[in-house]
Amino acid sequence: MKHELQALVFDAYGTLFDVHSVTRLADSLFAGRGAALSQAWRTKQLEYTWLRSLMGRYDDFSAVTAGALDWALESLGLAARPQDRASLLRAYRTLGTFPEVRGALARLGERHPLAILSNGHPDMLDAVVDHNELRVFFGERVLSVHEAGVYKPDPRVYAIAAAQLGLPAQSIGFVSSNGWDAAGAKSFGFTAFWVNRGKAPVERLGSPPDAVVDDLAGLAQLLA
Ligand code: 2OP
Repeated sequence: MKHELQALVFDAYGTLFDVHSVTRLADSLFAGRGAALSQAWRTKQLEYTWLRSLMGRYDDFSAVTAGALDWALESLGLAARPQDRASLLRAYRTLGTFPEVRGALARLGERHPLAILSNGHPDMLDAVVDHNELRVFFGERVLSVHEAGVYKPDPRVYAIAAAQLGLPAQSIGFVSSNGWDAAGAKSFGFTAFWVNRGKAPVERLGSPPDAVVDDLAGLAQLLA
């Protein structure tokens, strides 16, 4: 399998960037509630992408993320001052990476061109990529659903990466920690690698991943 791969495309949030790196800030604003807020925020953010796509509507990911934050705050009974809300939203542009990401990208990038394909608006993606100094690995290949006007796992999204890279789908390895995203990528025709950071069961969506790894270091080892 590895010999046929001509490029690797990474999901961003949850795969490269730890969305729960906002927990510390959230905890400093709402003592003891940071983890609950971060979990509710992320869950609602994803639901809002899927629901908009089903409704045939699109608002960019910063609007989705802001709406999800407001819902999560209210659901937990947390009253945020405008400046707290603004700093939580700003934190999304400076999320940290998981610890093994940089080393693994360096190894994987020796053999394959690397790209990102994410729900994030291009501005959000550029900010978080540059904040973490990952541009060296991806260059201009930081791709957003924004041009398709629909969210993952709509096949039109995965088609953006195939078109931009100019490669047949099965020769592209798609890497995601979001099991449903790996399933969507596999259903589209990519070779799918699921980074099972949360030790979750495989999604029963009829398109299981080609391989499962614990983290990106595991992927680098698998493809070495
Ligand atoms: C991403 O597209 C699914 O949030 C994930 O970056």
